Amino acid sequence: MVGARVYLACRDVQKGEFVAKEIQTMTGNQQVLVRKLDLSDTKSIRAFAKGFLAEEKHLHILINNAGVMMCPYSKTADGFEMHIGVNHLGHFLLTHLLLEKLKESAPSRIVNVSSLAHLLGRIHFHNLQGEKFYNAGLAYCHSKLANILFTQELARRLKGGPGGNKCGDMSQREAGRSQRSGNCFQSPSPGEDLFLWL
Ligand SMILES: NC(=O)c1ccc[n+]([C@@H]2O[C@H](COP(=O)([O-])OP(=O)(O)OC[C@H]3O[C@@H](n4cnc5c(N)ncnc54)[C@H](OP(=O)(O)O)[C@@H]3O)[C@@H](O)[C@H]2O)c1
Repeated sequence: MVGARVYLACRDVQKGEFVAKEIQTMTGNQQVLVRKLDLSDTKSIRAFAKGFLAEEKHLHILINNAGVMMCPYSKTADGFEMHIGVNHLGHFLLTHLLLEKLKESAPSRIVNVSSLAHLLGRIHFHNLQGEKFYNAGLAYCHSKLANILFTQELARRLKGGPGGNKCGDMSQREAGRSQRSGNCFQSPSPGEDLFLWL
């Protein structure tokens, strides 16, 4: 993404500013901007999207990476179970709000970061908010399955649109890197290559 204007959408702006400075120093790209985005609050998501759309004419790449993993039972500001709320519904709403801009900016890409953990996921419509039964590990798996289903359905709907559709199923790549490393959990560094094949 050399020369691109990059937005770091973070719930903790101070931490984001620190990372933005690091990126600026390492890459020489000064166009790294930080904006507030809390994916556990639809008001924050709408405010971020509104601000971004007012600021920018184009959006070429949206990377839906942020996520929570195996947290104790809690709910988002809008009453969704935290894993499904942040990992899926937050990204779903953000993507929806930015979709027209992405289409206008074609060629463009949406990258949804899932996990091999999706293989253990199930969409329990009768217990979507984990109120009847809750297991933190499984809640993460369910939300990562939702990422895959969302990606596949969005790819299907965007097929043949402006710029064509090159959405891929990231689960295959994730499986590949997990096999290489021998486990599912990695530091951010080897994971970076996920985003660089755009
Ligand atoms: N690490 C792995 O081995 C692995 C394997 C497969 C898939 N993944 C996927 O890779 C992605 C990144 O994982 P990671 O391991 O890098 O996790 P991480 O180090 O815990 O980073 C997650 C990021 O998400 C942000 N975040 C959490 N809740 C948020 C919210 N409500 N609003 C905005 N940002 C929020 C966090 O912000 P703060 O800095 O403020 O906490 C943090 O920057 C996730 O989607 C995960 O499911 C990771």
